[in-house]
Amino acid sequence: MFQRSSLIILCSLVALVYGRSLPSFIKPCKRNDPQLEKCLIELIEGIRSNLAKGIPEMRIPPLDPLHVPQVTLDQGSGSVNFQAKFKNIIASGAKNFNLTGVRLDFNVPSLSIDVGFPALRLDSDYNITGKVLVVPIKGNGKCQGNFTNVFASVKLLGKYDKRDGKTFLSVKERKINLKIGNLQIHFSNLFNGNKQLSESTNVFINENWRDILQEINPLVEDTIGEVMMQIIKGLLDLYSLEDLIPY
Ligand SMILES: *[C@@H]1O[C@H](CO)[C@@H](O)[C@H](O)[C@H]1NC(C)=O
Ligand SMILES: *[C@@H]1O[C@H](CO)[C@@H](O)[C@H](O)[C@H]1NC(C)=O
Ligand SMILES: *[C@@H]1O[C@H](CO)[C@@H](O)[C@H](O)[C@H]1NC(C)=O
Repeated sequence: MFQRSSLIILCSLVALVYGRSLPSFIKPCKRNDPQLEKCLIELIEGIRSNLAKGIPEMRIPPLDPLHVPQVTLDQGSGSVNFQAKFKNIIASGAKNFNLTGVRLDFNVPSLSIDVGFPALRLDSDYNITGKVLVVPIKGNGKCQGNFTNVFASVKLLGKYDKRDGKTFLSVKERKINLKIGNLQIHFSNLFNGNKQLSESTNVFINENWRDILQEINPLVEDTIGEVMMQIIKGLLDLYSLEDLIPY
């Protein structure tokens, strides 16, 4: 017992002085690598299965499937207006991501990530009431969606924080641009399970999802941006830039 706690104290001291070490399966990229972007892409693609399972020691939650307890979408005005609550969201398929760009600008500082997802599946409980284009929508039950050829471009702008002589990046602003190739979605139990209304509303949504999504795009981008930022923020709070991308 004594030995164990001494070891923990020793490790904490070492961490304080030398920084937090990365898990052994991560070979960090060097700051002065002339091909830093390529190195970062290969690094992240190389730990694909670890990212899917989650890396607790780096505060990275399991990303595939990713569990999001709750998302509230409150779209107040326009031709699409509704209040929706999605609970127990499970997003799967993210591990097949295709990283096309990772840019770090140490001057700003900023971090940009371009990533494609060939197929994402979302399962959740929903509760919605409102109007989509000309059609009213109301119900609660299970919602299931298939997204294909999703492309997200995320840019995080931050500032440097000095802590214990190390440089941490704290995120101040995020920008996200989202493109969805195709979407199939199904809300079960709309209108208290009224079969005909439920069916016709689902057909309408699937035929018009592009127009509907266009109306609520800022809201959707903001929501997805927040989820992605929370994940990256956890990592950046824990590791200094010297630890992540050593000189
Ligand atoms: C990833 O995306 C790039 C750019 O869109 C494309 O050239 C490449 O073929 C894709 N790779 C995979 C494995 O899908
Ligand atoms: C759905 O939301 C409405 C309005 O917020 C609420 O009154 C209702 O209880 C909710 N229904 C369920 C099943 O959660
Ligand atoms: C999504 O894809 C799964 C498996 O390919 C399929 O079973 C399901 O019906 C699809 N969902 C929708 C809403 O089309």
